[in-house]
Amino acid sequence: MPQTLAVEFFAPGVRLITLQRPQALNALNTQLLSELAAELADAQADDGTRAVVLTGSRKAFAAGADINEMAERNLVGILNDPRQAAWQAITHFNKPLIAAVNGFALGGGCELAMHADIIIAGEDARFGQPEINLGIMPGAGGTQRLLRAVGKSMAMQMVLTGEPIGARHAQRAGLVSEVTQPEFTVERALHIARNIAGKAPLAVRLAKEALLKAMDTDLASGLRFERHAFTVLAGTRDRDEGIRAFQEKRTPTFTGQ
Ligand code: HXC
Repeated sequence: MPQTLAVEFFAPGVRLITLQRPQALNALNTQLLSELAAELADAQADDGTRAVVLTGSRKAFAAGADINEMAERNLVGILNDPRQAAWQAITHFNKPLIAAVNGFALGGGCELAMHADIIIAGEDARFGQPEINLGIMPGAGGTQRLLRAVGKSMAMQMVLTGEPIGARHAQRAGLVSEVTQPEFTVERALHIARNIAGKAPLAVRLAKEALLKAMDTDLASGLRFERHAFTVLAGTRDRDEGIRAFQEKRTPTFTGQ
């Protein structure tokens, strides 16, 4: 049983993971990162889980890497560090991941939110990369994913000054897709997750992979990947079911085949 996470299941196939280290504003220590990586690995292996929502508390999604732990354990030997292994596992999660962010998403917390495919933010959410104030810099994708999300000027400003931006600002910049009242953030994310969980799983998986390709490849390679994925899906039973259901004016029942 994880001690720093709460896990709940919702039909059809949605898993809600809530970070729970309230005494440290969900700071990401080794235990939390390892438990989160294990939970995502479990969700990935489970055919019944079709989408995951990740959230924190009203005050903090996550206030970053655990600074007290960082004081004790330097990142020397980073490849052998269990935190690094956990980040790798989180990066490779291949099902839809939606972050429901209220309050602080700072440092590693902002980087964790940016691992999600979709970010829904409460209007009091604060996104920032304050590592520069500690004499370091983002180390879990912050420079790369933030720049791709908000563009060069905004990313430079956030990383070099350490100053956070609010939810509306983050939405205008393209970092988050929707802003809600904080009491509805998780509900809204669950609603989107349920919607996605009802779609054909193979189509969802390949569409996610194709969209992520757009972030790290040239247009010609991305288009090649898209055509290949599209062709693969053309041979699936779920494609036949989707088209038949449309013609028969009924809701499709997808099986993942
Ligand atoms: C450890 C933390 C923490 C953190 C907060 N706490 N953030 N503990 N690591 N990242 C603890 C505080 O020490 C305090 O514990 C309790 O949580 C409540 O926090 P307060 O500071 O009292 O709350 P508040 O005044 O509301 O300020 C909230 C805050 C501030 C603005 C978020 O806590 C803050 O600036 N935190 C640090 C944010 C940060 O620098 N993150 C980047 C970390 S570096 P006590 O015991 O005193 O009550 C990073 C690198 C990633 O993320 C690298 C990835 C490889």
